[in-house]
Amino acid sequence: MSGHFITFEGGEGAGKSTQIAALHDFLTSRGISVVCTREPGGTPNAELLRDLVVLGETGRWSALEEMLIMYTARSELVRTLIKPALKEGRWVLSDRFFDSTTVYQGYAGGVPLSRIRKLNEIVLGNFGPDLTLILDVPTNTGLHRVASRAETISRFEKQKVTFYEQVRDGYLQIAKENPKRCQVIDGTQSQMDVSQQIEQIVVKHFDAELAP
Ligand SMILES: Nc1ncnc2c1ncn2[C@@H]1O[C@H](COP(=O)(O)OP(=O)(O)O)[C@@H](O)[C@H]1O
Ligand SMILES: [Mg+2]
Repeated sequence: MSGHFITFEGGEGAGKSTQIAALHDFLTSRGISVVCTREPGGTPNAELLRDLVVLGETGRWSALEEMLIMYTARSELVRTLIKPALKEGRWVLSDRFFDSTTVYQGYAGGVPLSRIRKLNEIVLGNFGPDLTLILDVPTNTGLHRVASRAETISRFEKQKVTFYEQVRDGYLQIAKENPKRCQVIDGTQSQMDVSQQIEQIVVKHFDAELAP
């Protein structure tokens, strides 16, 4: 039996990494074999591309060039890690996936969405997540949380506040257009409340497989 593919989306500091770890533990405790990955990255080659695209100055790449690098990394990640894991019946949780390109390079970066859709079709065909959890927080909340975190600052964190507002609106638009696949979660709740809400959504979405 094939596994399931769940993606986590949202702006910087929305709580993706925190919640992916929590869902990993929840699913594992129910006897499910879970693989966690992240984008851009997730494989040795794709992590090299991650450094190229994530580090450096804001103007290092055009949004179109970023999109091409992201899809190169994504293609390899899907081919060598995600699809094989799903085939083995494992569940894959990814910290970001194609909606991030639509939002960062499209809605906020200015690449026409039709171009992104075309490239997506070329690279992935109709492959995509079974469920996407969009963590939504006001821009300032996210940026505040990131400021207090001990990670290297990325190129995307150096953008202006309007960029983040476009990111947030972009995600809400995607959710509106893909109501079956996407669920928006209020990320300003406590970590525990967000985790519980995610668990409920996942149990409901994958009903048969998660019945106790
Ligand atoms: N619901 C929450 N309430 C308050 N702080 C949170 C919450 N979720 C995560 N955080 C904190 O905010 C920071 C960013 O969270 P993180 O999971 O790394 O976000 P992301 O991966 O989306 O950038 C971390 O320091 C984390 O501990
Ligand atoms: Mg993170």
